[in-house]
Amino acid sequence: MFEKLLSEFTIKSMTLPNRFVVPAMVTRLSGEDGFVNQDIVDRYVRFAQGEIGLIVVEAMAVHNAKSGPLLRICGEEYKPGLTDLAKRVHDNGPSKVVPQIIHFLKIARSGWRQKIEDLTHDDIRLIIQQYGEAAARARECGFDGVEMHMAHAYTMSSFLSKRNRRPDEFGGKSLENRLRVPLEVVQQVRKHVGDDFAVGIRFLGEECIKGGYTTEESALIALRMAEAGVDYISLSAGGKFEDAIHRDGEVLYPYTGYSGDRCMPPADYPDAYNLHMADAARRMIRSQGLETPVIATGKISTPELGESVLQEGKADLIGMARALLADPDIPKKIREGRADTIMKCIYWNVCKALDETFHKVVCGLWPKGHIQAPLSDDTVAPEWPSTESLKVLARTNQIRLNWEKATDNEEVAGYEIWRSEDGGKNFSHLYSVQVTMYTDNLTMSGRQYAYYIKAYDLAGNKSTPSNIVKADVPLRIDLLAQPTGAVQA
Ligand SMILES: Cc1cc2nc3c(=O)[nH]c(=O)nc-3n(C[C@H](O)[C@H](O)[C@H](O)COP(=O)(O)O)c2cc1C
Repeated sequence: MFEKLLSEFTIKSMTLPNRFVVPAMVTRLSGEDGFVNQDIVDRYVRFAQGEIGLIVVEAMAVHNAKSGPLLRICGEEYKPGLTDLAKRVHDNGPSKVVPQIIHFLKIARSGWRQKIEDLTHDDIRLIIQQYGEAAARARECGFDGVEMHMAHAYTMSSFLSKRNRRPDEFGGKSLENRLRVPLEVVQQVRKHVGDDFAVGIRFLGEECIKGGYTTEESALIALRMAEAGVDYISLSAGGKFEDAIHRDGEVLYPYTGYSGDRCMPPADYPDAYNLHMADAARRMIRSQGLETPVIATGKISTPELGESVLQEGKADLIGMARALLADPDIPKKIREGRADTIMKCIYWNVCKALDETFHKVVCGLWPKGHIQAPLSDDTVAPEWPSTESLKVLARTNQIRLNWEKATDNEEVAGYEIWRSEDGGKNFSHLYSVQVTMYTDNLTMSGRQYAYYIKAYDLAGNKSTPSNIVKADVPLRIDLLAQPTGAVQA
């Protein structure tokens, strides 16, 4: 069933045990000093225990600029901690691990931000050099490769952007000009790490802002990067400053606007919303006879969906950020035939909100107080106290559910809500909560809905379904009324 997803994949000198990638996710677990600490090590060891093929460690700065809590790789003093991190990941599972290295420009609480148009040629030379030196450190620390961050609102992405307004050879309308600095970074990184070390790149498949580039250009960027010898291409989307919403007294967070939603698609976006970007890049690269692998990311919510993406040849590797944060054990669970114990991400974006406010990034589905995903090998599922645990109340615009607490030998971690829209024949997972009530607002008047709940524990063992309840949402005649007069266009 998960034949491709569980198959090995070799990128340069690293052979991944499967096709799962956890793309970089800032954790805010480090201090502003940027050193690796125990919480950071625990976060990545937890991913390794789940047997994730490739772990990309959160963005770490190549330079010593002020920021909130963020890892750094900009000096020799950071190497002992990073070396320990790489070793601990290797010691705890078959995963390969690469750090994502980033350069960003200054931002202020007033909303002001430094732009690439403000950089002198000397500044640019320095940044290119800093990328190279950071990559060399990544190799010296024992990582399996390095990933250059050229996505979202940061320096390299701003060079690639169609909104790059530099009047010189590093900007303007020409894509060749906009590619110049990022390509020099690729060359510099390669020069510092040698030919046998995996060098990946992450950039945007679409900027998702007015006047930004789309797949028409990102496929060409992918081709040029493949020609330049990068070993993998990881695509993201959006996450720009240009449409970010400025909150008084706060620094701009580039994921607050529409492009932010496209970057971390929330619950009400369709699955695999950004998949066409990876597909376009991969087709372009293959059409020119190159084999550079492409990682697709963006609400690929289940391993079943990941497998179908691989089977259809739309990507080579499957990036799952929030889904693997919620349950790092997805690869291990499917390898062991325990897919039914996966804790499903509900894309509620608690993690994103914590990142925005510089709080430790955790998953809202983990038990309260946990800063890492629960780890348990228990096999006993929770149980319902009675056969009538679930109750329902239908109102005109919504359906309210409440249920009794389930019991477990360890701890009940939450409840999955399953819904049917066809009178109880087919049910699908609607949401998960940690409380014992839920209000379904996504209902249409005049229709019948059926529900059951499954309780799950720390290991993801699920109870049998509760009793099934059905609810008829009263028909609202006013919504069906015909217009009485002509409507002016
Ligand atoms: C809390 C959080 C932090 C993130 N930090 C980074 C980062 O450091 N670098 C990066 O390239 N993307 C970052 N991302 C974006 C993710 O890598 C990923 O592209 C995005 O969440 C969409 O994938 P998903 O739908 O599988 O979650 C972050 C996402 C989240 C939720």
